[in-house]
Amino acid sequence: MTFVNIEDFRRAARRRLPRSVFEYIDGGAEGEVTLRENARAFEDISFHPRSAVAIPPPELGTTVLGAPISMPIILAPVGSSRMFWPRGEAVAAGVAGEAGTIYCLSTLSGTRLEEVKAATRGPAWFQLYLCGGRDIAAQGIQRAKAAGYSALILTIDTAVAGMRERDLRNGSREMIARKLVPMLPHLPQILSRPGWLRGFLGDGGMMKFPNVMLPDGPMLYNDVGTMLAQSTVTWDDLKWIRQIWDRPIVIKGVQIADDARRAVDEGADAVVVSNHGGRQLDSVWPTIRVLPDVVKAVGDRTEVLLDGGIRRGSDAVKAICLGAKAVLIGRAYAYGLAAAGAAGVRQSLDILHADLYRTLKLLGCASVRELNASYVSRDRW
Ligand code: GLV
Repeated sequence: MTFVNIEDFRRAARRRLPRSVFEYIDGGAEGEVTLRENARAFEDISFHPRSAVAIPPPELGTTVLGAPISMPIILAPVGSSRMFWPRGEAVAAGVAGEAGTIYCLSTLSGTRLEEVKAATRGPAWFQLYLCGGRDIAAQGIQRAKAAGYSALILTIDTAVAGMRERDLRNGSREMIARKLVPMLPHLPQILSRPGWLRGFLGDGGMMKFPNVMLPDGPMLYNDVGTMLAQSTVTWDDLKWIRQIWDRPIVIKGVQIADDARRAVDEGADAVVVSNHGGRQLDSVWPTIRVLPDVVKAVGDRTEVLLDGGIRRGSDAVKAICLGAKAVLIGRAYAYGLAAAGAAGVRQSLDILHADLYRTLKLLGCASVRELNASYVSRDRW
């Protein structure tokens, strides 16, 4: 099988994973309008290249929160990655470090945050949900600090669980209930994926959430949507978090300029224009369309990042032309992780890196730091 683009890894992930696990990665909320639009909206942006210019090999490196990274692509927090591949979070973090970029670990992960940090030689950020309440979350923050995470990402778009219809159809509730009879109709999708099943059993079976330590041990695996609803963050929480975390704080889930301003006023060090990959409120604007408003509002006061719909290096270039410092990818590496572990993540990042290089070369631009709005136009907004 030849892997030429991210879609090839998506197809390979679909073949290796039980349907419920694949669709947890692949799916979005309700009618999946925003899920589709996040990716499609990049098609509304066209390039304006400068041709016949001799430029040196393009410089793809940049900095985010003062840390140099080899390309403007960061691995986003993706919940439950250990369900995709044994020790999935540590595997993905290791590859991110080799590639010279940042790995973001979700609170709702299956691998201990200390093990994940130790697996990468690059910087790592810890994404925080307040699962289990403030005291439990505070312990997670202290652990992240001791382990050497360099920034905290606070996700602000999960006031309640998004309606992930595919998860419900695939028996997410029945499987979590751990009762045999309701689970029976869903067993064939698992038994038909022996490769995945071997890895899953060899990795200890059903993962727990070891970064949410409750008084009686790690939080048990549960429906991620339910967990999200129990972990709402408000601007007030930034105050106590600031008291126990003295490193940068990134606010993820900004969808309107006013929230970007509020985040910066409350002391955020960066914001991520994000709609949670179309997994929370459906029918919101795609992130690339929100980006110019946010850059206009706070671009001179903070670093603006973006996630959602990035499937090619050229998508990242478009976001940077419109003012993002870098982008986060979720599905674009999760498919690779699910399809082939470290090799899949590595090859996905190689594809995106080659895309970036080629796109800059064809644009006649020598560095991602020189990209600006003159290289693009927005055709249909
Ligand atoms: C977790 O944050 C998810 O979107 O599933």
